[in-house]
Amino acid sequence: MNLHIAVLSGDGIGPEVTNQSIKILNAVAEKYQHTFTFEEALVGAIAIDETGNPLPDKTLDLCLEADAVLFGAIGDPKYDNDPSAKVRPEQGLLALRKSLGLFANIRPVKAYDTLLDKSPLKKHIIENTDIVIYRELTGGIYFGEKTLSEDGTQASDLCSYSRGEIERVSHLAFKAAQGRTKKLTLVDKANVLETSRLWRKVVTAMASHYPDVNLEFLFVDNAAMQMVLNPSQFDVILTENMFGDIISDEASVIGGSIGLLASASIGNKYAMFEPIHGSYPQATGKGIANPIASILSAAMLLDHFGLSKEAATVRNAVERAIKLEICTPDLNSNGGYSTENVGTFIEGLIADSSALHINS
Ligand code: IPM
Ligand code: MN
Repeated sequence: MNLHIAVLSGDGIGPEVTNQSIKILNAVAEKYQHTFTFEEALVGAIAIDETGNPLPDKTLDLCLEADAVLFGAIGDPKYDNDPSAKVRPEQGLLALRKSLGLFANIRPVKAYDTLLDKSPLKKHIIENTDIVIYRELTGGIYFGEKTLSEDGTQASDLCSYSRGEIERVSHLAFKAAQGRTKKLTLVDKANVLETSRLWRKVVTAMASHYPDVNLEFLFVDNAAMQMVLNPSQFDVILTENMFGDIISDEASVIGGSIGLLASASIGNKYAMFEPIHGSYPQATGKGIANPIASILSAAMLLDHFGLSKEAATVRNAVERAIKLEICTPDLNSNGGYSTENVGTFIEGLIADSSALHINS
Protein backbone atom coordinates (compact mmCIF):
# COMPACT_ATOMS: atom_id res chain seq x y z
CA MET A 1 0.00 0.00 0.00
CA ASN A 2 1.14 3.54 -0.74
CA LEU A 3 0.52 6.10 1.97
CA HIS A 4 1.48 9.74 1.95
CA ILE A 5 1.64 10.87 5.56
CA ALA A 6 1.71 14.49 6.72
CA VAL A 7 3.95 14.82 9.77
CA LEU A 8 3.08 17.66 12.13
CA SER A 9 5.44 17.05 15.00
CA GLY A 10 4.85 20.44 16.64
CA ASP A 11 6.36 21.64 19.90
CA GLY A 12 8.35 20.41 22.87
CA ILE A 13 8.86 16.65 22.83
CA GLY A 14 6.58 16.33 19.75
CA PRO A 15 9.45 15.96 17.25
CA GLU A 16 11.40 13.50 19.45
CA VAL A 17 8.52 11.08 19.86
CA THR A 18 7.24 11.47 16.30
CA ASN A 19 10.69 10.60 14.94
CA GLN A 20 10.36 7.25 16.69
CA SER A 21 6.98 6.47 15.18
CA ILE A 22 8.28 7.39 11.72
CA LYS A 23 11.09 4.93 12.33
CA ILE A 24 8.54 2.27 13.26
CA LEU A 25 6.39 2.97 10.20
CA ASN A 26 9.48 2.72 8.02
CA ALA A 27 10.30 -0.65 9.57
CA VAL A 28 6.74 -1.81 8.88
CA ALA A 29 6.94 -0.56 5.27
CA GLU A 30 10.16 -2.45 4.74
CA LYS A 31 8.92 -5.68 6.30
CA TYR A 32 5.54 -5.76 4.56
CA GLN A 33 6.55 -4.05 1.33
CA HIS A 34 4.55 -0.88 1.60
CA THR A 35 5.57 2.58 0.49
CA PHE A 36 5.08 5.21 3.14
CA THR A 37 6.24 8.73 2.36
CA PHE A 38 6.44 11.45 4.97
CA GLU A 39 6.15 15.18 4.53
CA GLU A 40 6.65 17.60 7.40
CA ALA A 41 4.87 20.84 8.14
CA LEU A 42 4.72 23.37 10.95
CA VAL A 43 2.02 23.56 13.61
CA GLY A 44 1.66 25.08 17.08
CA ALA A 45 4.03 27.45 18.84
CA ILE A 46 6.84 26.78 16.40
CA ALA A 47 4.49 27.74 13.55
CA ILE A 48 3.55 30.95 15.37
CA ASP A 49 7.24 31.78 15.82
CA GLU A 50 7.96 31.26 12.15
CA THR A 51 4.77 32.44 10.45
CA GLY A 52 2.55 34.12 13.06
CA ASN A 53 -0.10 31.44 12.50
CA PRO A 54 -0.44 28.20 14.56
CA LEU A 55 -1.90 26.46 11.48
CA PRO A 56 -0.29 27.96 8.38
CA ASP A 57 -2.17 27.49 5.07
CA LYS A 58 0.69 25.40 3.75
CA THR A 59 0.26 22.97 6.64
CA LEU A 60 -3.49 22.67 6.20
CA ASP A 61 -3.07 22.18 2.43
CA LEU A 62 -0.62 19.36 3.05
CA CYS A 63 -3.04 17.67 5.49
CA LEU A 64 -5.90 18.00 2.99
CA GLU A 65 -3.96 16.22 0.29
CA ALA A 66 -2.25 13.60 2.47
CA ASP A 67 -3.74 10.18 3.25
CA ALA A 68 -3.26 10.68 6.99
CA VAL A 69 -1.74 13.04 9.52
CA LEU A 70 0.74 12.00 12.17
CA PHE A 71 0.67 14.61 14.90
CA GLY A 72 3.17 15.17 17.72
CA ALA A 73 2.26 17.67 20.42
CA ILE A 74 1.64 21.37 20.78
CA GLY A 75 1.93 23.96 23.50
CA ASP A 76 4.49 26.27 25.00
CA PRO A 77 4.57 27.67 28.54
CA LYS A 78 5.08 31.18 27.21
CA TYR A 79 1.42 31.13 26.07
CA ASP A 80 0.02 29.27 29.09
CA ASN A 81 1.10 32.07 31.38
CA ASP A 82 -0.25 34.82 29.18
CA PRO A 83 -4.06 34.86 29.29
CA SER A 84 -4.18 37.86 26.96
CA ALA A 85 -2.24 36.15 24.14
CA LYS A 86 -4.32 36.58 20.98
CA VAL A 87 -2.77 33.68 19.11
CA ARG A 88 -2.22 30.35 20.88
CA PRO A 89 -0.64 27.09 19.75
CA GLU A 90 -3.77 25.12 20.73
CA GLN A 91 -5.78 27.08 18.16
CA GLY A 92 -3.73 25.30 15.51
CA LEU A 93 -4.83 21.87 16.73
CA LEU A 94 -8.46 22.90 17.14
CA ALA A 95 -8.55 24.50 13.68
CA LEU A 96 -7.01 21.38 12.22
CA ARG A 97 -9.60 19.09 13.84
CA LYS A 98 -12.38 21.34 12.59
CA SER A 99 -10.98 21.80 9.08
CA LEU A 100 -10.43 18.09 8.59
CA GLY A 101 -13.84 17.26 10.10
CA LEU A 102 -12.31 14.95 12.71
CA PHE A 103 -15.44 14.49 14.79
CA ALA A 104 -14.46 11.33 16.66
CA ASN A 105 -11.45 10.97 18.91
CA ILE A 106 -10.74 7.39 19.91
CA ARG A 107 -8.58 6.84 22.98
CA PRO A 108 -7.81 3.29 24.15
CA VAL A 109 -6.79 2.89 27.81
CA LYS A 110 -5.29 -0.34 28.99
CA ALA A 111 -3.61 -1.66 32.13
CA TYR A 112 -0.61 -3.73 31.00
CA ASP A 113 -0.01 -6.62 33.40
CA THR A 114 3.69 -5.86 33.67
CA LEU A 115 3.01 -2.23 34.55
CA LEU A 116 0.35 -2.74 37.22
CA ASP A 117 2.70 -1.57 39.97
CA LYS A 118 3.63 1.60 38.06
CA SER A 119 0.22 3.15 38.54
CA PRO A 120 -0.40 5.13 41.73
CA LEU A 121 -3.70 3.22 41.88
CA LYS A 122 -3.81 -0.17 43.60
CA LYS A 123 -3.14 -3.20 41.46
CA HIS A 124 -6.41 -5.01 42.27
CA ILE A 125 -8.35 -1.92 41.22
CA ILE A 126 -6.80 -1.42 37.79
CA GLU A 127 -6.24 -5.08 36.82
CA ASN A 128 -7.99 -6.11 33.58
CA THR A 129 -8.87 -2.55 32.63
CA ASP A 130 -9.40 -2.24 28.90
CA ILE A 131 -11.41 0.80 27.83
CA VAL A 132 -11.92 2.74 24.63
CA ILE A 133 -13.09 6.30 24.97
CA TYR A 134 -15.03 7.82 22.07
CA ARG A 135 -14.77 11.56 22.52
CA GLU A 136 -16.73 13.94 20.29
CA LEU A 137 -14.08 16.27 18.92
CA THR A 138 -15.46 19.11 16.82
CA GLY A 139 -18.42 20.40 18.81
CA GLY A 140 -19.54 21.43 22.26
CA ILE A 141 -18.03 24.12 24.44
CA TYR A 142 -14.67 24.00 22.62
CA PHE A 143 -16.23 25.41 19.47
CA GLY A 144 -19.26 27.39 20.68
CA GLU A 145 -19.40 31.16 20.56
CA LYS A 146 -17.01 32.87 22.99
CA THR A 147 -17.51 36.30 24.43
CA LEU A 148 -15.52 38.65 26.61
CA SER A 149 -17.09 41.89 27.74
CA GLU A 150 -15.34 45.10 26.81
CA ASP A 151 -14.30 45.83 30.38
CA GLY A 152 -12.92 42.30 30.63
CA THR A 153 -15.03 41.33 33.65
CA GLN A 154 -17.42 38.86 32.03
CA ALA A 155 -16.85 35.93 29.70
CA SER A 156 -18.87 33.08 28.24
CA ASP A 157 -18.39 29.91 26.20
CA LEU A 158 -21.44 28.43 24.54
CA CYS A 159 -21.92 24.65 24.62
CA SER A 160 -24.08 23.52 21.73
CA TYR A 161 -24.75 20.18 20.02
CA SER A 162 -26.96 19.11 17.15
CA ARG A 163 -28.54 15.69 16.70
CA GLY A 164 -26.34 15.04 13.67
CA GLU A 165 -23.17 15.81 15.58
CA ILE A 166 -24.19 13.39 18.31
CA GLU A 167 -25.26 10.63 15.93
CA ARG A 168 -22.14 10.42 13.79
CA VAL A 169 -19.73 9.83 16.68
CA SER A 170 -22.25 7.63 18.51
CA HIS A 171 -22.55 5.27 15.53
CA LEU A 172 -18.80 4.68 15.73
CA ALA A 173 -19.00 4.03 19.47
CA PHE A 174 -21.91 1.58 19.10
CA LYS A 175 -20.02 -0.30 16.37
CA ALA A 176 -16.89 -0.42 18.52
CA ALA A 177 -18.95 -1.83 21.40
CA GLN A 178 -20.34 -4.52 19.10
CA GLY A 179 -16.80 -5.66 18.39
CA ARG A 180 -15.88 -5.76 22.08
CA THR A 181 -17.84 -6.75 25.18
CA LYS A 182 -20.98 -4.96 23.94
CA LYS A 183 -21.17 -2.48 26.75
CA LEU A 184 -21.47 1.23 25.98
CA THR A 185 -21.52 3.91 28.66
CA LEU A 186 -22.70 7.39 27.76
CA VAL A 187 -21.06 9.90 30.09
CA ASP A 188 -22.94 13.18 30.45
CA LYS A 189 -24.43 15.66 32.90
CA ALA A 190 -28.06 15.18 31.95
CA ASN A 191 -29.26 16.17 35.42
CA VAL A 192 -28.11 19.73 34.68
CA LEU A 193 -27.25 20.37 31.03
CA GLU A 194 -29.69 20.64 28.13
CA THR A 195 -27.02 19.42 25.70
CA SER A 196 -26.56 16.29 27.83
CA ARG A 197 -30.30 15.64 27.78
CA LEU A 198 -30.18 15.81 23.97
CA TRP A 199 -27.25 13.35 23.97
CA ARG A 200 -29.29 10.88 26.08
CA LYS A 201 -32.34 11.22 23.87
CA VAL A 202 -30.43 10.79 20.62
CA VAL A 203 -28.25 7.92 21.85
CA THR A 204 -31.25 6.13 23.41
CA ALA A 205 -33.10 6.33 20.10
CA MET A 206 -30.08 4.91 18.29
CA ALA A 207 -29.80 1.96 20.66
CA SER A 208 -32.64 0.11 18.91
CA HIS A 209 -30.35 -0.25 15.87
CA TYR A 210 -27.74 -1.95 18.05
CA PRO A 211 -29.90 -4.35 20.10
CA ASP A 212 -26.91 -6.44 21.14
CA VAL A 213 -25.25 -3.45 22.84
CA ASN A 214 -25.97 -2.84 26.49
CA LEU A 215 -26.28 0.94 26.85
CA GLU A 216 -25.71 2.55 30.23
CA PHE A 217 -25.65 6.16 31.41
CA LEU A 218 -23.40 7.80 33.93
CA PHE A 219 -23.14 11.40 35.11
CA VAL A 220 -19.68 12.74 34.49
CA ASP A 221 -18.90 13.44 38.16
CA ASN A 222 -19.78 9.86 39.06
CA ALA A 223 -17.86 8.60 36.00
CA ALA A 224 -14.77 10.48 37.20
CA MET A 225 -15.07 8.71 40.53
CA GLN A 226 -15.76 5.28 38.98
CA MET A 227 -12.71 5.69 36.74
CA VAL A 228 -10.39 5.44 39.73
CA LEU A 229 -12.66 3.29 41.92
CA ASN A 230 -13.51 0.50 39.50
CA PRO A 231 -12.20 1.20 35.99
CA SER A 232 -12.52 -2.39 34.72
CA GLN A 233 -16.34 -2.00 34.72
CA PHE A 234 -16.01 0.14 31.57
CA ASP A 235 -15.74 -1.06 28.01
CA VAL A 236 -16.62 1.66 25.50
CA ILE A 237 -17.23 5.16 26.85
CA LEU A 238 -19.01 7.70 24.68
CA THR A 239 -18.95 11.35 25.63
CA GLU A 240 -18.89 14.96 24.49
CA ASN A 241 -15.79 16.99 23.79
CA MET A 242 -14.79 18.49 27.13
CA PHE A 243 -15.87 15.58 29.34
CA GLY A 244 -13.84 13.30 27.06
CA ASP A 245 -10.78 15.51 27.39
CA ILE A 246 -10.93 15.39 31.19
CA ILE A 247 -11.92 11.73 31.62
CA SER A 248 -9.17 10.53 29.28
CA ASP A 249 -6.40 12.34 31.17
CA GLU A 250 -7.79 10.84 34.37
CA ALA A 251 -7.87 7.39 32.78
CA SER A 252 -4.24 7.69 31.71
CA VAL A 253 -3.23 7.19 35.36
CA ILE A 254 -4.41 3.58 35.10
CA GLY A 255 -1.76 2.59 32.59
CA GLY A 256 1.04 3.99 34.70
CA SER A 257 2.03 6.79 32.33
CA ILE A 258 0.27 9.24 30.07
CA GLY A 259 3.18 8.48 27.75
CA LEU A 260 1.42 5.25 26.72
CA LEU A 261 -1.86 6.66 25.48
CA ALA A 262 -2.45 6.88 21.77
CA SER A 263 -5.38 8.31 19.87
CA ALA A 264 -7.00 8.40 16.48
CA SER A 265 -9.12 11.31 15.30
CA ILE A 266 -11.45 10.26 12.55
CA GLY A 267 -13.83 12.02 10.20
CA ASN A 268 -15.69 11.04 7.04
CA LYS A 269 -12.67 11.77 4.87
CA TYR A 270 -9.57 12.49 6.94
CA ALA A 271 -7.79 10.90 9.85
CA MET A 272 -5.14 12.06 12.26
CA PHE A 273 -3.14 10.10 14.79
CA GLU A 274 -1.65 11.63 17.90
CA PRO A 275 -0.54 10.79 21.42
CA ILE A 276 -2.88 12.23 24.04
CA HIS A 277 -0.01 13.77 26.00
CA GLY A 278 1.10 17.36 25.60
CA SER A 279 4.39 18.94 24.60
CA TYR A 280 6.05 18.28 28.01
CA PRO A 281 8.34 21.32 27.68
CA GLN A 282 10.46 20.45 30.73
CA ALA A 283 11.63 17.29 28.97
CA THR A 284 12.37 18.78 25.56
CA GLY A 285 15.70 17.68 24.14
CA LYS A 286 16.52 15.46 27.12
CA GLY A 287 15.68 12.20 25.38
CA ILE A 288 13.45 11.07 28.25
CA ALA A 289 10.01 11.36 26.64
CA ASN A 290 8.14 8.09 26.19
CA PRO A 291 7.70 7.41 22.45
CA ILE A 292 5.16 4.60 22.97
CA ALA A 293 2.05 6.83 22.78
CA SER A 294 3.22 8.07 19.41
CA ILE A 295 4.19 4.56 18.25
CA LEU A 296 0.80 3.17 19.29
CA SER A 297 -0.83 6.07 17.43
CA ALA A 298 1.06 4.89 14.36
CA ALA A 299 -0.40 1.41 15.00
CA MET A 300 -3.87 2.98 14.99
CA LEU A 301 -2.98 4.58 11.65
CA LEU A 302 -2.13 1.15 10.25
CA ASP A 303 -5.41 -0.28 11.55
CA HIS A 304 -7.31 2.60 10.00
CA PHE A 305 -6.03 1.59 6.56
CA GLY A 306 -6.91 -2.06 7.15
CA LEU A 307 -3.30 -3.06 7.81
CA SER A 308 -4.26 -5.05 10.87
CA LYS A 309 -1.42 -7.57 10.68
CA GLU A 310 1.05 -4.70 10.57
CA ALA A 311 -0.68 -2.92 13.45
CA ALA A 312 -0.62 -6.12 15.52
CA THR A 313 3.10 -6.49 14.86
CA VAL A 314 3.71 -2.98 16.18
CA ARG A 315 1.55 -3.58 19.27
CA ASN A 316 3.24 -6.89 19.99
CA ALA A 317 6.65 -5.25 19.71
CA VAL A 318 5.56 -2.50 22.09
CA GLU A 319 4.21 -5.03 24.59
CA ARG A 320 7.41 -7.01 24.37
CA ALA A 321 9.51 -3.90 25.05
CA ILE A 322 7.30 -3.07 28.04
CA LYS A 323 7.61 -6.64 29.34
CA LEU A 324 11.39 -6.47 29.04
CA GLU A 325 11.35 -3.07 30.77
CA ILE A 326 12.91 -1.35 27.80
CA CYS A 327 11.13 1.82 28.83
CA THR A 328 11.81 5.52 29.33
CA PRO A 329 12.25 6.84 32.91
CA ASP A 330 8.50 7.44 33.44
CA LEU A 331 8.12 3.65 33.59
CA ASN A 332 11.56 2.51 34.60
CA SER A 333 12.77 3.45 38.03
CA ASN A 334 16.34 2.32 37.27
CA GLY A 335 16.99 5.35 35.11
CA GLY A 336 15.49 3.82 32.02
CA TYR A 337 16.28 4.02 28.35
CA SER A 338 16.23 7.05 26.09
CA THR A 339 13.42 7.94 23.71
CA GLU A 340 15.66 6.97 20.81
CA ASN A 341 16.75 3.67 22.39
CA VAL A 342 13.20 2.59 23.10
CA GLY A 343 12.24 3.41 19.49
CA THR A 344 15.24 1.55 18.10
CA PHE A 345 14.52 -1.48 20.26
CA ILE A 346 10.93 -1.67 19.06
CA GLU A 347 12.10 -1.12 15.48
CA GLY A 348 14.48 -4.07 15.89
CA LEU A 349 11.68 -6.31 17.17
CA ILE A 350 9.57 -5.47 14.13
CA ALA A 351 12.39 -6.10 11.68
CA ASP A 352 13.26 -9.43 13.29
CA SER A 353 9.90 -11.04 13.93
CA SER A 354 11.53 -14.16 15.31
CA ALA A 355 12.25 -11.96 18.33
CA LEU A 356 8.51 -11.51 18.72
CA HIS A 357 7.52 -14.63 20.58
CA ILE A 358 4.11 -13.19 21.00
CA ASN A 359 2.72 -15.75 23.38
CA SER A 360 5.83 -16.30 25.43
C1 IPM B 1 -6.07 16.94 23.95
C2 IPM B 1 -5.53 18.29 24.36
C3 IPM B 1 -6.21 19.36 23.54
C4 IPM B 1 -7.68 19.31 23.87
C5 IPM B 1 -5.65 20.78 23.74
C6 IPM B 1 -4.17 20.84 23.49
C7 IPM B 1 -6.37 21.78 22.89
O1 IPM B 1 -5.66 18.48 25.73
O2 IPM B 1 -5.95 16.58 22.77
O3 IPM B 1 -6.61 16.25 24.81
O4 IPM B 1 -8.12 19.89 24.87
O5 IPM B 1 -8.42 18.68 23.11
MN1 MN C 1 -6.42 16.74 26.80
